[in-house]
Amino acid sequence: MDVTVIGCGYVGLVTATCLASIGHTVRGVEKDQKKLKTLQDGHCPIFEPGLQELMQENYASGQLQFTDDVRSAVKDAEVVFLCVGTPPKADGTVDMSYLEAAGKEVCDALAENNNDYMVTIIVKSTVPSGTNRKLYNCLKEQTRAHVAVVSNPEFLKEGTAVNDCLNPDRIVIGEVRSEEALDMLQAMNTGHDGSLTTVHANTPRDALTRIETMIAMGATNLPERAMRQQISSAINVVVQQTRLSDGSRRVTTISEITGMEGDIITMQDVFIFEKTGLSPEGKVTGRFRATGVRPKCWERLKAAGINLPPEMFSGSEELR
Ligand SMILES: NC(=O)c1ccc[n+]([C@@H]2O[C@H](COP(=O)([O-])OP(=O)(O)OC[C@H]3O[C@@H](n4cnc5c(N)ncnc54)[C@H](O)[C@@H]3O)[C@@H](O)[C@H]2O)c1
Repeated sequence: MDVTVIGCGYVGLVTATCLASIGHTVRGVEKDQKKLKTLQDGHCPIFEPGLQELMQENYASGQLQFTDDVRSAVKDAEVVFLCVGTPPKADGTVDMSYLEAAGKEVCDALAENNNDYMVTIIVKSTVPSGTNRKLYNCLKEQTRAHVAVVSNPEFLKEGTAVNDCLNPDRIVIGEVRSEEALDMLQAMNTGHDGSLTTVHANTPRDALTRIETMIAMGATNLPERAMRQQISSAINVVVQQTRLSDGSRRVTTISEITGMEGDIITMQDVFIFEKTGLSPEGKVTGRFRATGVRPKCWERLKAAGINLPPEMFSGSEELR
């Protein structure tokens, strides 16, 4: 993929280098001229185990380039990472000026290029909620490009940043709304235990049907059965959260996917919330109870050192 990373500080440089090392063409944009010169001279301005070697190797091969020219860097980009600083101000709020400036430069560059293909802007900087919406509106007004703005908040640990970036121990995906559902399943099917995503649906079973529909929206030729197999092997547990009539949100069902029977994905409810009524204050009352099914994943949890008492699944006890 053609990737641009705006801001080659700690986060941006690690991201750019790691992406280049797995075969993407990456252009890092850096405005600080001293830092840029260091990078263009092939030196790493920060110390992070393994980073300098990886950076030099990919810089030498041309897989990784550095510039201060946003326009040319964004010209062919399919993905643009925003990794500029968002330092705290004296009053405790976040200084968004670098991100706003970088976002505006990306908007202008995309508008000027007049591209009409899909560009994904990935915000890695730490930002207040609502930032992506503002950025999206700015991009939508200015460019013909089909843009998506997504969050990929950074959880970098200094000292192990390169290893963590190249070997993430889990994948946490925000809400899937469209054909990206297939990418999500494929990512979840690559051995990242604990992957998590959100989908809007009325029931756990509906959630699976919605995922199928979203994949189909991508006009994929994937046969129905293969699609269902992907779903049943990627997803172990569906946790349904419901907004109740009193406005509160509660977990109302925990269901386990158990496999496939013929062309049908099989699943079983493990815990369900039963509404019993309303309190005098108008709050929903109810109880969460086990259905009596001990989930298949109980053994896996046990093997991972999470010892859940078998009685909690027996259905005889009311749970809180
Ligand atoms: N460093 C960490 O450990 C860490 C961890 C989690 C989150 N974050 C967040 O990630 C973001 C980046 O952090 P960092 O530590 O990499 O910051 P940094 O200050 O090290 O790097 C930011 C870089 O962006 C450059 N820059 C600013 N505006 C630019 C523009 N318009 N075009 C090109 N370059 C520009 C700056 O010159 C600087 O080199 C921040 O929001 C931070 O809160 C950082």
